[in-house]
Amino acid sequence: MNIIVSKNKEELAEKAALTVKELVSKNPKATLGLATGSSPLELYAHLASYCREGLSFSEVKSFNLDEYIACPIVEQTYAYFMKENLFSKIDIRLENTHFPNQKDPEAYDAEIEEAGGVDLQILGIGRNGHIGFNEPGTSHDSKTHIIDLTESTRSANARFFRNDIDLVPTQAVSMGLSTIMKARKIVLIANDVTKAEPIAALLMKKKTLDVPATVLLDHPDCDVFLTEDVYEAAKKLVEASHD
Ligand code: F6R
Repeated sequence: MNIIVSKNKEELAEKAALTVKELVSKNPKATLGLATGSSPLELYAHLASYCREGLSFSEVKSFNLDEYIACPIVEQTYAYFMKENLFSKIDIRLENTHFPNQKDPEAYDAEIEEAGGVDLQILGIGRNGHIGFNEPGTSHDSKTHIIDLTESTRSANARFFRNDIDLVPTQAVSMGLSTIMKARKIVLIANDVTKAEPIAALLMKKKTLDVPATVLLDHPDCDVFLTEDVYEAAKKLVEASHD
């Protein structure tokens, strides 16, 4: 696991976006695994500007990590988020974009395999260490599955639902941890200090089901992009754990 520390969100996004640019320049038919939420927003803005400058995504395929089940606000579905923040701003073909389906979740793993696997998976991280919507306790062998969202995740996401936790869906369908681990390269972004705790768990290099992201410690090619404030706060937590 490589830890890459940047001064701020902007610098982080630029560095992480260059990883995607490099891949798509070399392999215009690359398959990307995509995340939603605040963490990758600036990175997506960079991809849009690369596209305006001539980088084509017309042959790129994408597989999103997750989608809410029974989302009461259509603008908060992840399909909507992706159209709004990326797909409408690059020349990717919508038929090449994919989301997991609650009717047959495991079919998603087969679909990804048929596409040749994910070349680069972008991840954010939850305050409780979730990746995708794999909440604490999720098996490392999990494939795409339906998951009950924890109180911590629903309250973190209430900001997108008029700050009303009752509007936040209670379930989602998400790539499993084994699905994510199959990606050939992983880029994880933590650019908000509320992520210090799970990042501290990664720095401690102890794999635990309680912090799902620690499964990434076993991945052969995983870049963790941190802003300086997240890194410093996580380091303090590691030091405190030694006291
Ligand atoms: C989103 C996803 C989640 C988020 C995580 C962090 O597709 O899979 O794991 O990456 O909840 O969310 P933000 O980036 O909004 O802090």
